[in-house]
Amino acid sequence: MTKSPTPAWWRDAAVYQIYPRSFADSDGDGLGDLRGIIDRLGYLVDLGVDAVWISPWYPSPMADAGYDVSDYRDIDPRFGTLADADELIARAHALGLRVIIDLVPNHCSAEHPWFREALAAAPGSPERERFVFRDGHGEQPPTNWVSVFGGPAWQRTPDGQWYLHAFAPEQPDWNWENPEVVAEFDAILRFWFDRGVDGFRVDVADSMALDQSLPNNPIDERTGVATLDKFPGAPQWDQPGLVEIQQRWRAIADSYAASPQGPRVFISEAYLALDRLVAYVGPGRLHTTFNFDALQCEWEPTSLRHVIDRTLAAHDRVGAPCTWVLSNHDTVRVATRYGKHPTGVRYTADGIDPATELEFHGLIGTPTELATGYRRARAAALLMLALPGGVYVYQGEELGLEEVEDLPDRLRQDPTWERSGHTNKGRDGARVPLPWSCEGPSLGFGPGPGWLPQPAHWSAMSVAAQADEPMSTLSLYRSALRTRRRNPALGAGTMTWLDDLPDGVLGLRREPGFRCLVNLSGQPIDLPRGRVLLASARVYEGKLGNDAAVWLTD
Ligand code: BGC
Repeated sequence: MTKSPTPAWWRDAAVYQIYPRSFADSDGDGLGDLRGIIDRLGYLVDLGVDAVWISPWYPSPMADAGYDVSDYRDIDPRFGTLADADELIARAHALGLRVIIDLVPNHCSAEHPWFREALAAAPGSPERERFVFRDGHGEQPPTNWVSVFGGPAWQRTPDGQWYLHAFAPEQPDWNWENPEVVAEFDAILRFWFDRGVDGFRVDVADSMALDQSLPNNPIDERTGVATLDKFPGAPQWDQPGLVEIQQRWRAIADSYAASPQGPRVFISEAYLALDRLVAYVGPGRLHTTFNFDALQCEWEPTSLRHVIDRTLAAHDRVGAPCTWVLSNHDTVRVATRYGKHPTGVRYTADGIDPATELEFHGLIGTPTELATGYRRARAAALLMLALPGGVYVYQGEELGLEEVEDLPDRLRQDPTWERSGHTNKGRDGARVPLPWSCEGPSLGFGPGPGWLPQPAHWSAMSVAAQADEPMSTLSLYRSALRTRRRNPALGAGTMTWLDDLPDGVLGLRREPGFRCLVNLSGQPIDLPRGRVLLASARVYEGKLGNDAAVWLTD
């Protein structure tokens, strides 16, 4: 059973992110698939999560690992069939798990039939109106905008017009001014809601709406090209037109209120300053939003406290629950990040300290002290799971997996690698297939090798190696998620800080009678009175070590 079975289950849900190509491969083609997920649903029930979010499973040429969708109403044959999706949803529901899937509304694949029609049609035609085609200035594109993956955001077509792609050229942007596009996405939402999905994670939820005057962006002095910064008014980001789109989708989700599952939900994915981000989860708009401040924050007590305080206050203002997230398929795995220097961005009472802004993917290859990172990641898990709101666990985080930083370059598939001229190694190191067993060509991921190789020592980090090991990270997550579900103090609700603690120790209290302490003081501390429910590291003689966390009851 989920903690809040209905209708507000999403307010405190623990959601597990499945990255399908790297979760479990049932047929031996090296890519994970839906059958692999179906076979492992029991693992997720044992883990104690309430829901799964499955990254894109749609037919796709995989120019961006499925975030380039060529058919929004089907399953990629490498992943399975629609019948498999129906079975997955039904089995998950029978096991008490909700199912959230990815919606990619900013762009599709260049292989999408509508984009092919647009390319074949004349400038100014209704087919081209579904995308953002414009004339350039001679040999120059319509604006100076750059793509998130590097290089210009415009691609020239053989007849001389240009089309917009915020990401790779294989991902043309939809024109959200076009009623046909709006109606098509309404129908896509209903298609999946009718099949039983409980909600959508909205990819790049701060894009879609454009400043229709298409102004140039200011030049970034560091790079010499147009900025990608999402400054207020930036023509591609967080434009007012999003409000109407979000309200429209919310009405569709709410129209399922009378169905057995209740209303459906949306999770916004946007890297945006907190104050602007929470507008997306205000009344009548989306339900929750990923909290990337928590994900980017350095492992430092003052920063962490600022992030938590700012997050709680901002969400309170709009009446939405917070979410907490440590990693995902786009960012350096948390055990690795916390083992680097710096470990993340510094936060003050005003938000990010700009002097410490760092590019997460650029961290790859800088020295890592893995034992430290691993210890901190375990402590961070207990902190995250003790906070009010919902949480996201990225597959493999519960095993303590690290970023694979030494993948051979020839195996890299993330478009960032090519588009950055091989300067940015990209996100593949966070996407290496999961190790399920101690042996085999892909450590139980599938019958043959996986699409990326795993480090040999992952054998000892596999599910099989950790399952019956009481001190393992898997056991820690299992105990924490179960405790979180059963303990009335955890999940949604409020918290207060404990202020009578040594410097560098974070302590929070939740009622009735629950405390979480995180020691970042650099030395062991005496534990206060109370019964230890769970600890991220062994508690010796009443002392909690540095970079460790504990859950206590009064
Ligand atoms: C996804 C990425 C993807 C990008 C473009 C992001 O938000 O999480 O994996 O490359 O959107 O769709």
